[in-house]
Amino acid sequence: MRARAISPQAQLKLEVVEAQLMRKLGIIGGTGREGSALALRYAKAGWLVYVGSRDPKRAQLFIEKLQSELREASGDLIGCSNIEAAEYGEAVFLAIPYIGLKETLDQVESWLDQKLLVDVVVPNIMRTSYLLNEKQLELYRQHFGAGRAPSVTEEIYMYLNNAYGIKPRVVAALKTVSFKTIADLKTPFKQTILIWGFNSEDLHQLRSLLKQAFPEAELLEVPQMYWSSIEGVCEFIRHMSIQGVRIEALSFTYS
Ligand SMILES: NC(=O)c1ccc[n+]([C@@H]2O[C@H](COP(=O)([O-])OP(=O)(O)OC[C@H]3O[C@@H](n4cnc5c(N)ncnc54)[C@H](OP(=O)(O)O)[C@@H]3O)[C@@H](O)[C@H]2O)c1
Repeated sequence: MRARAISPQAQLKLEVVEAQLMRKLGIIGGTGREGSALALRYAKAGWLVYVGSRDPKRAQLFIEKLQSELREASGDLIGCSNIEAAEYGEAVFLAIPYIGLKETLDQVESWLDQKLLVDVVVPNIMRTSYLLNEKQLELYRQHFGAGRAPSVTEEIYMYLNNAYGIKPRVVAALKTVSFKTIADLKTPFKQTILIWGFNSEDLHQLRSLLKQAFPEAELLEVPQMYWSSIEGVCEFIRHMSIQGVRIEALSFTYS
């Protein structure tokens, strides 16, 4: 926050008013590499970011570290539980490991109806499907073809719809972007961000959300038939990177 030559009470009031005017973002898994990189970006862009964790005390300690990187930012950070991040964010990023999805979605579902939920999750285990049961998978395959595995985004939608009867406004973004690039606030972010979602209204809102923190990025919408393939490629690249193998094959174009 900027320093001003006014009384401490007036300063406090001003900060309260500023906080009320700020746009609010929730990050479930805000203490992780991806979540904290997003928190930095959005706080720098002037948002009040609710940095969520399974342990709110950890989140509060964690944001003290992040604050030091944000001296000139107009936004701010609040460390809180994942449930509070889902409750107070106008839009919510879901930035936890795939394996933690079911338990986390069960905790936050009541805050997700009508709210844009941005899934950045890349599955990190060999899987068919973790959130869906056999009957739901069969339904999915009747629609999309035998042997097809749903993307995480589709799983989240089907799981919440089936378990809680809500139609979550889930969209996806940034799955192909490393947290290091997101956290680098000094270099202009000129990459393409792949995005997807189930309807144009949600995608419109996602575009405007991303443009605030990544103004120079190109946003490219991916058709539904490619969603799970892209997640698979992300995971493959991550797996190979951990083993020290650098994949260059995806830098080709047909132009
Ligand atoms: N790292 C990247 O470059 C990158 C890029 C694109 C997408 N992603 C995706 O973003 C998600 C997070 O990745 P990350 O690299 O940030 O992981 P991470 O550094 O391990 O952080 C994830 C955070 O999620 C929370 N968490 C851990 N296990 C959990 C569980 N079982 N249930 C609920 N919460 C749990 C932890 O926070 P608390 O302990 O505080 O709750 C942790 O700080 C993953 O799905 C990943 O595929 C990552």
